[in-house]
Parts: sequence; C-alpha cells; structure tokens
Amino acid sequence: MRALVNSVHIDFEEHGAGVNVLLIHGFPLHRAMWSGQIEGLKKCARLIAPDLRGFGKSDVPAPPYGMEDFAEDLNGLLAHLRVERVILCGFSMGGYISFAFQRRFPEKVAGMVLIDTRADADSEEARGKRLEMAEAIRQRGVELAAETMVPKLLAEQSRRHNPDLIARVASMIRDNSADGVANAQLAMASRPDSTSDLGRINCPVLIVVGDQDALTPVAVSEAMAARLPRCDLRIIGGAGHLTPMEYPERVNAAIGDYLRNFEETCRG
Ligand code: MLT
Repeated sequence: MRALVNSVHIDFEEHGAGVNVLLIHGFPLHRAMWSGQIEGLKKCARLIAPDLRGFGKSDVPAPPYGMEDFAEDLNGLLAHLRVERVILCGFSMGGYISFAFQRRFPEKVAGMVLIDTRADADSEEARGKRLEMAEAIRQRGVELAAETMVPKLLAEQSRRHNPDLIARVASMIRDNSADGVANAQLAMASRPDSTSDLGRINCPVLIVVGDQDALTPVAVSEAMAARLPRCDLRIIGGAGHLTPMEYPERVNAAIGDYLRNFEETCRG
C-alpha cells in the first residue's frame, strides 16, 4: 500500500487487529526487518510498518531532512489511516524518530517500545564519521553500507552460525538506494539530544536491548530506563544490535507482555 504524505510516497503494510502499533525500522534497513514481529504479533495488535522516506519502496526526496521530517511523514501516514493514538515501536534510528514524534505529537503516543536505541545525540567524532560515510556511500554505492553495517548489526554468534540471516540483512541493505542511505546518515548526524525529554514521557515504555549490542550497549538502555518514569527493560541474551531479527520470538514475547498492559485492545 502507498500513501502520499508531505509530497512523499510512503509505502507501507498493515496487518492484524487490536491496539495500533507503528513499527519504525532502523538504518540502513527497511520494513522487512519486522517480518518476525508481524508474524508473531499480528494476532494481538494492528501492526503498521512503513518504509521510511529514502528506504525500501518509498520515495527518496532531496536532502536535507531530519528526524522531525521522518516524524511528520509518520504523522501523515497515521492521518491517512485515521489512527488517532499509537504505540511507537522504534528500532535504533526508529527510536530516534520515536523521540522526535513524541516531542511533536505527545497526545498521539499511547506507549513506546524502544529497541536497541539511545536518546543522546552524536559526539563530534561520530558526526564526522557519519559525514564521511555518507559521502563514501554516494560515491561507491550502497554495497559499502552492506559491507560495513552487517558486522556491526549482528552478534558474533549470528555472524558465525547464521548465514541465512547475514544474507537477508545484506540483501535488505542493497534494496536501498545510495542516496537514501546517505541522506539518513546526514539526518542522524544532525539529530538533537532527546535525553532531557525522557523524564516527561509519561506513557508506559518498554526498552529491549541485546546483551551483545555494540552500537547501543546495555548500559545506554539502563541509563535511559532510569530516567523514564514508567519503564520496563528487557535484555535479550545472545543478541547483538539487530535483536528483532536475531531473536524474533524473544522480542515478540517481551512486546507481547507489554501489549497486555493495553488490555482493552489487546487480549494476547
Ligand atoms: C540503526 O540501526 O538504525 C543505526 O545503527 C543507528 C545509528 O547509526 O545510529
């Protein structure tokens, strides 16, 4: 399915019935990263999974754009679907976008599931590396993103013993255009620090993180959890950064338990 929002075609899929859950993918992936969650959770929730601008089958608009633009697109998509309140489920970059959405449209956020993500902005060094990487990807193509990101996304165990998962992740990255991936790098480099928002987020929050996540380590999630007024933290043993694809059943169990807080719309 496709919706025109903010002059950008956003491609998305929708499954199941129950509480509205917006699945916001990470970088440099697309909505197919959620296939395990869609399979496991569609019996208890209405799952809406878009390709963000610049990814998958959605349009790649001209830069610059930032986290707020991704959030505006998602708000436009929800309006298109006549969804008034939603649980945001954001993985990594999807978490950065969730914070931007929550800042802009707090009344629309019924809950948040933050998976392998962080609230703080980039250091100067990290920002510099993103700018270099964006330029290199534009020049050498998206294959460079596949080469550099796959090892970072997966735990050692997955890299050694799960060639099928490696192939699926690499192929998903290659589905994207170099420009879309580079534009998102620049968008993440300029994202604001959301740490000071955490104390004001009053909805129930679930944080999920892989115990071997090297990009957003457990300590980062623990620090976020300590600031959030209503937060549960679930650590997934054996997972790296890409926890929803590495251990879909364990992630689904954590999200399923969380969704049971929303009894009126989700009966598990
Ligand atoms: C992601 O998984 O979305 C990225 O690792 C986020 C980032 O590069 O900060």
